[in-house]
Amino acid sequence: MDKIVVHGGRELSGTIKISGSKNSALPIIAATLLTREPCVLHRVPDLSDTNYMLQILRHLGADVERASGTVTVTAEKVESLAPYDVVRKMRASVCVLGPLLGRCKEANVSMPGGCVIGDRPIDLHLKGFEALGAAIRVEGGDVRVFAPKLTGAIINLRGKFGPTVLGTDNVMMAATLAEGITVIEGAASEPEVVDLADFLNKMGAKIEGAGTRRIIIEGVKELHGAEHTVIPDRIEAGTFLVAGAMCGNGVTIKRVDRDHVSAVTNALAAAGFQIQWAEDSITISPNGATKPLELVTEPYPGFPTDMQAQMCALLCMTDGISVITENVFPQRYMHVAELKRMGAHVQLEGATAIIQGVDRLFGAPVMASDLRASAALVLAGLKAEGRTEISRVYHIDRGYEHLDEKLIELGADIERVKA
Ligand code: EPZ
Repeated sequence: MDKIVVHGGRELSGTIKISGSKNSALPIIAATLLTREPCVLHRVPDLSDTNYMLQILRHLGADVERASGTVTVTAEKVESLAPYDVVRKMRASVCVLGPLLGRCKEANVSMPGGCVIGDRPIDLHLKGFEALGAAIRVEGGDVRVFAPKLTGAIINLRGKFGPTVLGTDNVMMAATLAEGITVIEGAASEPEVVDLADFLNKMGAKIEGAGTRRIIIEGVKELHGAEHTVIPDRIEAGTFLVAGAMCGNGVTIKRVDRDHVSAVTNALAAAGFQIQWAEDSITISPNGATKPLELVTEPYPGFPTDMQAQMCALLCMTDGISVITENVFPQRYMHVAELKRMGAHVQLEGATAIIQGVDRLFGAPVMASDLRASAALVLAGLKAEGRTEISRVYHIDRGYEHLDEKLIELGADIERVKA
């Protein structure tokens, strides 16, 4: 397994381009199962997660071609079985359920297990499918959904931790081919849900209200092929903004939607950094003393849980006491133990992290655990004194396209070591 070695202390500056969004590309790739016609997708990031989703589609019988960032999928005929060894490696593969139910009126997917950020239930997904008329069978770790036909319904998808992103995606995809009108109340409003709805409408679906808590889908008989460009990855953008905040003297990121990252730029401005906007780019620069923050993660448009670990790394080196409350995945603190190995002072109390900023972090061997925790450790290594060695970097490769290469472009002393 590869390692990433970072020698901290370098000042970062320059410009990098943001890749297409992983969390938009994954459901959109799954949505191509809804039609037998070819779909052409641009700016599909070259990640192990997206490439894995493409493998799943091949496994289900689709023809898949990739030419750099452009992917062409033709699902002329599809199987409806995605077995456990396929699903367990990537939980997001659960979002083939909705398209398979819509297209084949049945789907068999192995239940996704938990993961290090916490339990990852799909009860809300299944509640939505049942409301559309599907029967659910959970046997031996597999979930089978099937329906003689799908009928539109009014469905509330809000759970105790708020809306579900992939649950909204799954039910929306199935509802495009249901008979009649479906209303999803308590829907997720993330930009990635809007991007999926935009793609589905290009395929001939009739979806209104994406981006709000209430999405209305009028079912149609069938969907046709379409072409689409995936939106920029707002979490990659946020990650590079934090890198610029921690070590930068003018870092610019290009290809970013201002509204999609506003919760992050507002937090960085409140922490004392200067944010400058241009057409579709943002520049972050130091701006005198930094300030501690009280951050609460919430569903969009609130502060994103996927940026919590990265901000934790920044706040570990911000004078004063900062407090982070994780409302979406309360256990999402795998990065804290590793940051403490580097000298951070963080105290966990349930879903809350109390951070006492320190002047210095020290390089150390640390272990990546999940995608965003891994990114946080790279950021800490960029700032720490000495050498930081991050093992299990396959977590990073799941969701960041060439992270190390992009950081080198900004001046970081970072290398990937084949282990
Ligand atoms: C998506 O996961 C993202 N993944 C996650 O990004 C992101 O952290 C999450 O949304 C929240 O924004 C993709 O889009 C591929 P949820 P998802 O369903 O849809 C609970 C990353 O780092 N819940 O919105 O699986 C759940 O336990 C990844 O890129 C239920 O209770 O998350 C959580 O507490 C990590 N029942 C909350 O809802 C359900 O049926 C939000 O989860 C479904 C979810």
